[in-house]
Amino acid sequence: MKVVTTLDDLRHARAALAGPMGLVPTMGYLHEGHISLVRRARTECASVAASIFVNPAQFGPSEDLAAYPRDLARDLALLEEAGVDLVWTPTAEIVYPAGFQTWVTVEEMARPLEGAHRPGHFRGVATVVAKLFNAFQPQRAYFGQKDAQQAAVIRQMTRDLDFPVEVVICPTVREQDGLAMSSRNAYLSQEQRAAAPVLFRALSAAAMAWAAGQRDAEDLRQLMAGIIDAEPLARRQYVSVADPVTLQELEGPVAGALLSMAVIVGTTRLIDNLVLGEA
Ligand code: PAJ
Repeated sequence: MKVVTTLDDLRHARAALAGPMGLVPTMGYLHEGHISLVRRARTECASVAASIFVNPAQFGPSEDLAAYPRDLARDLALLEEAGVDLVWTPTAEIVYPAGFQTWVTVEEMARPLEGAHRPGHFRGVATVVAKLFNAFQPQRAYFGQKDAQQAAVIRQMTRDLDFPVEVVICPTVREQDGLAMSSRNAYLSQEQRAAAPVLFRALSAAAMAWAAGQRDAEDLRQLMAGIIDAEPLARRQYVSVADPVTLQELEGPVAGALLSMAVIVGTTRLIDNLVLGEA
């Protein structure tokens, strides 16, 4: 496995890789969710590359950029073991050199949900992913359903800007108790960790109610909100029943939907989602 930092070294190393090449962008502090993307890429591509970059542009001024967990040595060992061929670990100065002033903004789809609570977040994500696509020129790129709106925004950006990249979305990997794996779970105290599965419990309860015939969007939101609000350590930021394609909030009976939420447990902001009515 080759590990490079500069863009020049990346381009040289990338040119030597066999195609099709699959890219797995990450911010590091890797867990089984990230590794599942690598494994999927490994089965579908002749070579696999990954990036580890805690992207300052996608963090708000009051968010956890400085505190974001990092462990490069462990990450590299995990990527090597999973069969990655090339890893790019650029610095912020390499990705955003002095004078940088070009941004990628996805409009409608980036506005609700996470976009409403994290202004500028998806501008940072879309810009860095566009730069990663240009730098690596992958045939395929792998993202997690865990970040459902991010996946939708990246799909839209790829289509709108004509990137010749197939965007592959992989299922959310969960802990035994349902908590979606996340680098941010490392922030949770033991007590908070015990409360954190409340997100998946609320999503699952709504999915079960839907399967049993409860179709009203507002009733499903109320059901999820009630379960979150019953957990003393959890503070609900939003619960949503939205169109899985446009991400706009739904009203009335729903044939299919993206159930999603952001919940603050202690001081840690957790997100999760489930899709209803998937084929
Ligand atoms: P990060 O949070 O490190 O996640 C990297 C990739 O792993 C994303 O596609 C994310 O959806 C996926 N992922 C995270 N947890 C997962 C889980 N439990 N199951 C399945 N996939 C999971 O998302 C980012 O980084 C950044 O925004 C990035 C796309 C790298 C741009 O900076």
